[in-house]
Amino acid sequence: SAEMNPALMPLDWLLGVWESDEPGEGSFPSIPPFRYNETLHFSHVGQPVINFMFNAFNAENKKPMHRECGFIRMQPGTNRVAFIIAQNSGLVEVEEGLLTGQQLTLHTHALARTSFAKEPHVQQISRVFQLRPDGKLEQTVSMAMEGGPLIQHLHITYCRSAL
Ligand code: HEM
Repeated sequence: SAEMNPALMPLDWLLGVWESDEPGEGSFPSIPPFRYNETLHFSHVGQPVINFMFNAFNAENKKPMHRECGFIRMQPGTNRVAFIIAQNSGLVEVEEGLLTGQQLTLHTHALARTSFAKEPHVQQISRVFQLRPDGKLEQTVSMAMEGGPLIQHLHITYCRSAL
């Protein structure tokens, strides 16, 4: 396996495989609350880029649900981070934000969708990743529909997987 690019040092705490320890909680005012499991993969090939895959599953029947994959880049010499994301729902996104300690706070910078994407159309996504002192990773995702307020959609914690 390739040696880690020094540009990734500030994000080395993300690398590896993470699995939800207990089901994550999904919600939004317009939908019934739901539970899901999710596996996160963060890897690199020696470039100053992290490759990632997020795969979510129904907590009850284990069926595949939401999936995202993409890349993470940092602006050299800064704590600015960008996530370049493709989602199976037909959404593509650039999220940008800041790395502070072992916390990433991101907001939609650019967003596009397939012409036939289901409504309602999400307009803004905001997420926080945090490595907690107990070694667990936490992700919280909020979103806003056209003209609507930013409201939490997802909250989940992960443990490092042996894989
Ligand atoms: C519903 C966006 C991640 C599960 C929705 C809706 C939107 C949305 C726009 C429709 C809300 C409505 O009808 O008013 C997103 C975005 C995500 C994301 C932008 C990532 C940033 C996830 C993940 C799961 C999930 C990881 C995990 C399984 C669901 C479910 C519903 C839903 C079960 C309700 C049923 C449905 O509309 O399919 N999401 N979602 N979402 N989302 Fe997400």
